[in-house]
Amino acid sequence: MRRSLTFILLLLAYGSTSLAQTEVKELSLWKFSRADNASASRADFDDSYWETVKIPHDWAIYGPFDKEIDKQVVRIEQNNEKVATEKTGRTGALPFIGVGWYRTTLDLPVFSNDKQALITFDGAMSNAEVFVNGVKVGNRPYGYSYFYFDISSYLQAGKKNVVAVRLENQPFSSRWYPGAGLYRKVRVIVKNRENFKHWGHFITTPSVSDNIARVNIRSQVQGENLTVKATIRDAKGNTVAEKVSSERFGNEIEQNITVKNPNLWSPETPYLYTAELKLYQGNALKDSEVVRFGIRQISYSAAKGFELNGKVTKFKGVCLHHDLGPIGTAVNRAALKRQLTILKDMGCNAIRSSHNMPSIEQLELCDEMGFLFLAESFDEWKKPKVKNGYNLYFDEWAEKDVENLVRATKNHPCIVMWSAGNEVPDQWGSDGVKRLKWLQDIFHREDPTRPVTVGMDQVKAVMESGFGAILDIPGLNYRVHLYDEAYQRFPQGILLGSETASTVSSRGIYKFPVVSKPDKTYPDLQCSSYDLEFCDWSNIPEDDFIQQDDKPWVIGEFVWTGFDYLGEPTPYDNYWPSRSSYFGICDLAGLPKDRFYLYRSRWNTKDTTLHILPHWNWEGREGQTTPVFVYTSYNSAELFVNGKSQGIQKKSTQSKLNRYRLMWMDVKYEPGTLKVVAYDDKGKPAAEKTVVTAGKPHHIKLEADRQTITANGEDLCYVTATIVDKQGNPCPNASNRLYFKVKGTGKYRAACNGDATSLEVFHKPTMKAFSGKLVVLVQSSTQAGNMELTVSGDELKEGKLTISTIKE
Ligand code: GAL
Repeated sequence: MRRSLTFILLLLAYGSTSLAQTEVKELSLWKFSRADNASASRADFDDSYWETVKIPHDWAIYGPFDKEIDKQVVRIEQNNEKVATEKTGRTGALPFIGVGWYRTTLDLPVFSNDKQALITFDGAMSNAEVFVNGVKVGNRPYGYSYFYFDISSYLQAGKKNVVAVRLENQPFSSRWYPGAGLYRKVRVIVKNRENFKHWGHFITTPSVSDNIARVNIRSQVQGENLTVKATIRDAKGNTVAEKVSSERFGNEIEQNITVKNPNLWSPETPYLYTAELKLYQGNALKDSEVVRFGIRQISYSAAKGFELNGKVTKFKGVCLHHDLGPIGTAVNRAALKRQLTILKDMGCNAIRSSHNMPSIEQLELCDEMGFLFLAESFDEWKKPKVKNGYNLYFDEWAEKDVENLVRATKNHPCIVMWSAGNEVPDQWGSDGVKRLKWLQDIFHREDPTRPVTVGMDQVKAVMESGFGAILDIPGLNYRVHLYDEAYQRFPQGILLGSETASTVSSRGIYKFPVVSKPDKTYPDLQCSSYDLEFCDWSNIPEDDFIQQDDKPWVIGEFVWTGFDYLGEPTPYDNYWPSRSSYFGICDLAGLPKDRFYLYRSRWNTKDTTLHILPHWNWEGREGQTTPVFVYTSYNSAELFVNGKSQGIQKKSTQSKLNRYRLMWMDVKYEPGTLKVVAYDDKGKPAAEKTVVTAGKPHHIKLEADRQTITANGEDLCYVTATIVDKQGNPCPNASNRLYFKVKGTGKYRAACNGDATSLEVFHKPTMKAFSGKLVVLVQSSTQAGNMELTVSGDELKEGKLTISTIKE
């Protein structure tokens, strides 16, 4: 059966004539096959027996997990490894390798010579080759790149035009799970020939004060005798300024527009304006686009560090990989928004898209919700980290990929810095210095308003070679012991912790005795949540906090990572089964680990934090030493075990741990109640928290992140299922198998328990709980109404929850 196209008109402009319309069609329904077949590019190829899929689509996330997939026998140089070992799960152990074909049709009833049609991809994983009506229109190797082709001359008006895309993922091409397929949006844009060039507007705010801002809009145009009319509107849609210009410099029309009493964009006040840009030829409206932007000023200086709107601001950031855990890499706004909502509560103000171009949806959300953004491009330049990595494409594609990164995203106010690379082995040798200069110049040419960094781990080498000195912003990955020397040796006078911590932990798992150690492993392939375990190149959070707090020239940090991600199961990358990371502040399901509260206690300056660890269900450990840690925004607290005081602990600069956590190292376990009372600075009790020893698992408690979601077939509700005892206390060790059923206006989508060693696939409607919990994702249909999720479990009373779906 032929599919029909979702036909969406976005960014529409209605002028006096129908010619003015710019149509944006989202191509969402495709036929898909994993079989390679050269004839699949042909217009007359019979794809009727192929599966129908909706994109964004990740063909590999459905598994099964298999240790043989992309098994890499390698020595990871940047991890200081001396001998090659077998690495399983490094790329997630999911079947992303090989070929995938996508085909769809495009109806363009009235397409004619006076129109231009572009096909745009926000990313395609990877080695995309695009065909229209059997003819190849272009290719793009890098899976994270945004790209587009002009397909005007390949189209046939009045016919069904066939679009076919061949993708191929190589083994040994990634250091993490890259995903597979058309995992981001694909659109066709049809315009008049006289038009604004795609990604052709650049809106900057060169001068900003409380009472006036200058907005500069440069629009690249195609055609002759053109005029641009710009209308700037505030967040409520009121016009605040208008201007018309036909003054042309080459292919650009530039306008300087005054906005009085501007509302400035910042993480605390993410205020957005829109510029409606209309292109006229004489009186005929030819094109129209609406670009969202923010009015804000950024500056970096040795004297003040990073300033946003004149205010010194430190990056309280996290690195994020692009996968969304149980739904893989298929981009989903609700999944991204949930991540950012969790991070906002933690007090995080910045995201680094490690180590590649972010999704457009993520940037839009960061604009809206208020996150600063460090947009990264590459994990490799010319020198390989993995055999079939970006090194294969660097010479031919790096400039084009950087151009597209900047051109596609430069109007997002959230972006305040570019990154040209992460720990590239080109840090060694003089060629690398030249490459850096070349890439940085491309960024500057494309965008003179933002600086460039590189996450550097070979700090001694880049001090010697000059690599670190020529960067706009030197970024250090880990290596806190070299911060002072780097500050002395580099001329910039500031330093960014472009990647920090890499502390490892498994949610709800605690190991005894409690010791701080690198590369600690255990027979169950889990890491301890006392937050004292790290890698031999990395450290615990406090090592970074000290740099941030004591050195005004350190402009902030990006913690590795905000959420666990698929692949890179350090310290268990030589062990099986383990297929996802342990680095996350939150687990793969998005559930906060204890570390979340350590960062929150320091980063969230609006709300108080008081969190106790570990849990208090240690049957068999009675009388044994069971240290208790408290992560809190208060400076002191008293701990009680079954009402008996264990003494007051105060934060102190005497030791790095005491400075940021409160610790009772000698507590002897006895079942019952653990209570912490926090004291304010006058010594008065200000807050308290208790953790109790739970009884037997009894029923399932369900909590939704949102009670109402949009009936658009894409929106997701995340429901946390917690196994609790009769009194409702969470059972922290429960691992019961749970089953999921959804009735009504939605469907079961996936589940995730955050256990890096689990080989259960995410899309089956059953999974075992891990540390007493898991998260169920339910997805809306396009119908408004109610859906009911039932979670049942062996020997447990089931939980039920109703979620409403409403039309936008
Ligand atoms: C860094 C690297 C990251 C990740 C991390 C794990 O060196 O940039 O991609 O591998 O180590 O600690």
